[in-house]
Amino acid sequence: MSYIDKVKQFTIKENPIILGIETSCDETAVAIVKNGREILADEIISSATEHAKYGGVVPEIASRMHTTAILTATENALKNANMTMDDIDAIAVTKGAGLLGALLVGVSFAKSLAFATDKPLVPVSHIRGHIAASYLADKTLEPPFITLLASGGHTAIIKVEDYYTINALGGTLDDAVGEAFDKVARVLGLPYPGGPNVERLSKEGSKNIKLPKMLKGYDGGKYDLSYSGLKTAVINYVHTEEQKGNEINKADLAMSFQSTAIDVLIDKVLMAVKETGINTVTVSGGVGANGYLREQLKERTQGLGIKLVIPEKRYCTDNGAMIGAEGFLQYKKGNFADLSLNAEAVVPLK
Ligand code: KG4
Ligand code: ZN
Repeated sequence: MSYIDKVKQFTIKENPIILGIETSCDETAVAIVKNGREILADEIISSATEHAKYGGVVPEIASRMHTTAILTATENALKNANMTMDDIDAIAVTKGAGLLGALLVGVSFAKSLAFATDKPLVPVSHIRGHIAASYLADKTLEPPFITLLASGGHTAIIKVEDYYTINALGGTLDDAVGEAFDKVARVLGLPYPGGPNVERLSKEGSKNIKLPKMLKGYDGGKYDLSYSGLKTAVINYVHTEEQKGNEINKADLAMSFQSTAIDVLIDKVLMAVKETGINTVTVSGGVGANGYLREQLKERTQGLGIKLVIPEKRYCTDNGAMIGAEGFLQYKKGNFADLSLNAEAVVPLK
């Protein structure tokens, strides 16, 4: 029987064990997740130190490093869970969004593995994966909830209606917040990865440099955000001060940028809670690892009767467990792909 015929016949098990594979950027991540909630193994092999030499992710290097790391990551995950492929019920893989060449390594590997072991292949959206990380962080979490999606590629305030229906209330009109962190890091002369380094520097500074408020005078969607103006304001500040021969307090600039970029996200989250009456809030995506964001969100939701779910930092940034968690939901729906599955650089926010 061909694989395409088998796809129609796979049974959907009660408590499946899913292998989650993620290769959208510079992390080769493979995890084993039981029933969408329990992490049995979680491997991450990062190529970040290679990219640091060039100041940012070099797609070709990312793809090559995935090729050499993916088998090791998978074998280590199985070994750490004390399992073999016989124990795995399905293989979930990020199909997009991300770097095409990098995604293709994961997708091709997952296809070969599914074919060779006769298991269902479950395609997963990276964005939905980030959101699903919260189901691992709090095993009792159920929709509806509001999630703050803040990563290197996306920034949005999302209403998660049920396990399958997500609606963006609004989001960035230009750069993502993580992208702004990375660009500001470059201007400040900080190495890749930008976000964590801006955060580190900001700890020595204070918010005393006034940067323009975002979308001043804009009367579009009230959940809309824009980061390109803020980024440009930081660049202009640096150039102007340099021209004047003034020394720049980089730590103050890092802290001023960080608070301006993040305070507005929390404003919108609180607005969403008020308007929708949904009082559960989660955080999704790499910028969720930011300490200032985590602290401010806790502080500003205190006493408001809001249930807050913030995944551990490791599960905010890219990982395989979130793909296993979202893979579980798609598996339950019987959303199985055949071997024609392809990677997509862009996937819609839905
Ligand atoms: O979710 P993620 O790992 O990959 C994408 O899907 O984009 O997010 C990566 C982004 C990068 O822009 C990175 O600079 C940012 O998350 N990031 C942070 C921190 N850790 C990662 N930004 C601010 N503070 C951090 N601690
Ligand atoms: Zn991501």
